[in-house]
Amino acid sequence: MIRTRALTKDFVVSRTRTVHAVRGISLDVEPGELVAVLGPNGAGKTTTLRMLTTLIQPTSGTAEVAGYDVVERPDRVRAAIGYVGQGGAGGAAQHVRDELVTQGEIYGLDRRTARARAGELLEALDLTEQADRKVESLSGGQKRRLDVAVGLVHEPSLLFLDEPSTGLDPHNRANLWEHILRMRTAAAEPRTIVLTTHYLDEADTFAERVIVVDGGQVIADDTADALKAELAGDLVTLRVPAEHVADLAAIAERAPGTRSVHVADDFGVRTVEIRTADGPGATPGLLRAADAAGLLVSRVDVARPTLDDVFLGLTGRSLRETGVDGAGPDEPADTPTATAAPTKKEVPA
Ligand SMILES: Nc1ncnc2c1ncn2[C@@H]1O[C@H](COP(=O)(O)OP(=O)(O)OP(=O)(O)O)[C@@H](O)[C@H]1O
Ligand SMILES: [Mg+2]
Repeated sequence: MIRTRALTKDFVVSRTRTVHAVRGISLDVEPGELVAVLGPNGAGKTTTLRMLTTLIQPTSGTAEVAGYDVVERPDRVRAAIGYVGQGGAGGAAQHVRDELVTQGEIYGLDRRTARARAGELLEALDLTEQADRKVESLSGGQKRRLDVAVGLVHEPSLLFLDEPSTGLDPHNRANLWEHILRMRTAAAEPRTIVLTTHYLDEADTFAERVIVVDGGQVIADDTADALKAELAGDLVTLRVPAEHVADLAAIAERAPGTRSVHVADDFGVRTVEIRTADGPGATPGLLRAADAAGLLVSRVDVARPTLDDVFLGLTGRSLRETGVDGAGPDEPADTPTATAAPTKKEVPA
């Protein structure tokens, strides 16, 4: 469905400054995959999506989408895909339902089908009450839901969603996901979805494949479980009296499956933190060994890793530290919103 090879995008900002937004991305996405793209602000997620949806041309490398080269046959690519950009679409003075019906017709639906789809989407995305209001009167989250509805109205078999859930409250995030998952399985042929998100829990729960992007490159690409097992590991935390810490750390170092041991000082309470491939599996053995050595373990915690631990393991930085997990719709200061946000005209028809 998607095949890119060494795809790059440079933005020449001035005579002396070029932004290397995407630095050689090679990807294959099969029909029916649900892929989440993660990465901090400025990682190159939107730029990649905009190349794949033919809104901007690559600087070098190749990309095929739905079997067509994005540079040679942008018309064919556009006919095969749906795209919900990071910026808002929607004619401000239109009524919400009319906007959806019009967009459906632009995508080639007949009026009856467009009206039926519009009705379903308004219902699914909790916009029925707003259906007869003007787009400009909607709240931020309501507008975002309308953007998503517009991208879904013609039920494309390949869908790109750039931060579809950013700015939505938890109830509407859940609704959106329910709709995305339902829409995906309702189709006769498998529907492929590529989306970006800053909500790590969403990627973890819903995507079968997670692609981590940093500095314009793919730094990891696997299932969330595999990434966590390979790159992070479970965290077992044992609390012992201060005089036992060194002995326990030595035992933990030798235990099967241990990847790293760290002695933490949490406001005077010493704990031994053990990264291990299988926390629940390793813990009984650790406790038996501690007991045999006469060490008094007063507390045990076993935590499964998160995708943030994966990013930390890969880069030494936390996505949370970059302030993007669950971040609002704000653009980073260095992103030129006016050019990065797709305008309505650009939405592939
Ligand atoms: N039109 C443009 N002109 C110049 N620089 C750009 C342009 N569009 C994007 N960039 C730069 O390219 C880099 C990648 O931006 P991009 O929008 O792809 O990041 P992103 O991963 O989508 O980030 P976010 O999580 O903030 O949406 C950033 O440094 C950004 O400032
Ligand atoms: Mg972006």
